[in-house]
Amino acid sequence: MRVLITGGAGFIGSHLAEKLIDEGHEVFIIDNLWTGKLENLKRIQDNERCHLVIDTILNESVMNELIFKVDHIYHLAAAVGVRNIMDNPVETLEINVKGTETVLRLANRFKKKVLIASTSEIYGKHVDHSLKEDDNRVMGTVKKRRWAYACSKTLDEFLALAYFDEKKLPVVVTRLFNTVGPRQTGRYGMVLPNFVQSALLGKPITVFGDGTQSRSFTHVSDVTDALIKLVNKQEAEGDVFNVGNDHEVSIKDLAHKVKEMTRSKSEIEYIPYEKAYGPGFEDMERRCPNIDKIKGLIGFKPKHDLESIIQSVIDYFKS
Ligand SMILES: NC(=O)c1ccc[n+]([C@@H]2O[C@H](COP(=O)([O-])OP(=O)(O)OC[C@H]3O[C@@H](n4cnc5c(N)ncnc54)[C@H](O)[C@@H]3O)[C@@H](O)[C@H]2O)c1
Repeated sequence: MRVLITGGAGFIGSHLAEKLIDEGHEVFIIDNLWTGKLENLKRIQDNERCHLVIDTILNESVMNELIFKVDHIYHLAAAVGVRNIMDNPVETLEINVKGTETVLRLANRFKKKVLIASTSEIYGKHVDHSLKEDDNRVMGTVKKRRWAYACSKTLDEFLALAYFDEKKLPVVVTRLFNTVGPRQTGRYGMVLPNFVQSALLGKPITVFGDGTQSRSFTHVSDVTDALIKLVNKQEAEGDVFNVGNDHEVSIKDLAHKVKEMTRSKSEIEYIPYEKAYGPGFEDMERRCPNIDKIKGLIGFKPKHDLESIIQSVIDYFKS
C-alpha cells in the first residue's frame, strides 16, 4: 500500500511511519517541521520506501500530487499543544480548519480514504464519567482561547462526517487521549515529557493547579497500532472512535511516580494555572475515555501500563 501521513515528522506521525515502513508499505510524509523534527525520522529517512516532502498541507498543488499517488491518508498535521494554542491562535485555527478542509477536499477528488486525528479535548469540561463517543460536548466561552483547539478539531470532525454522508468519501474519525512516549517534546506544554526532563535535571517538577485533575495516558505504540487497524476496517468508515487508555491517574500522583522512578531529588511545586497560561485559564478536571467501541470493533487493548509508559520516556530522555 502507498500511504500519506500529514505531520509525519511529528511525535505520533514518525512512530506511525516507522511501523508502516516495517510492515512493507510505501510511506509519503508531508511536514513543515513546525513542531516536528527531521531527527524523528532518523531510522527510516534513508529507506527507499520513505518519501519526505517538507512543505505545508496548505500547499494545494503539492497536496494534490501526493494524494493522487497514495491509497489512503493519515491526517495528523495540526497545531498541537496548549502552549502553541495560547501563543499562536491564528495559525492554530488556520492549520486545523483550512488544512483539514484541504485534505478532505482533495481526498474526495480521488476518493481516497482519510483517517482524521481528532482529540479528547473536544469533550470539553465533562467531569463525572468516562467519555463515550456520542456524549455531549461542554465547551467554554470563545473568550477563553484554549477552547479554540477543541473547536477547530470539532469542525474537522463535522467536515469529515459530512464528506462521508454527502459525498461517500470513506473517512474514520479518531479521538486521541493523551498520547505519550519517546520523541514527545515538552516544549508545547505536554505534561509527561516536562515532568521527566525536570526530574532528570534535578529541577522542580511543576504541577499546574492542585494536581487533583486526572488524565489517562496511552503509549504511542498502542495508538499507532489502533490507527492502522481502524484504517483497514471497513466498518470503521463514517464513524468516530476514542483511542486511549481507561486507566486514570491524577497529575499529582504522576509527578510523584516520575520522581520515584527517576530517583530524583527534585521538589514537586504547585503553581496556579494563571501563572502558566494567563488569567482565567480553564482546564478539564478529568479526561478518561470509554473504549468499549474500539474494543468491540478491533479488539483494542492497550499493552503498556503507566509504569512502562513512564519508563519509555525516561529511557528516551536519558539516551
Ligand atoms: N499527542 C497527543 O496526546 C494528542 C492527543 C490528541 C490528538 N492529537 C493529534 O494527533 C496529531 C499528531 O500530534 P502529535 O502529538 O504527534 O504532535 P506533533 O506536534 O508532534 O505533530 C504534528 C505535526 O504536524 C506538523 N505540522 C503542523 N502544521 C503543519 C502544516 N501546516 N503542514 C505540514 N505539517 C504541519 C508539525 O510540524 C508536526 O510534525 C495532531 O493532529 C494532534 O491534534 C495528539
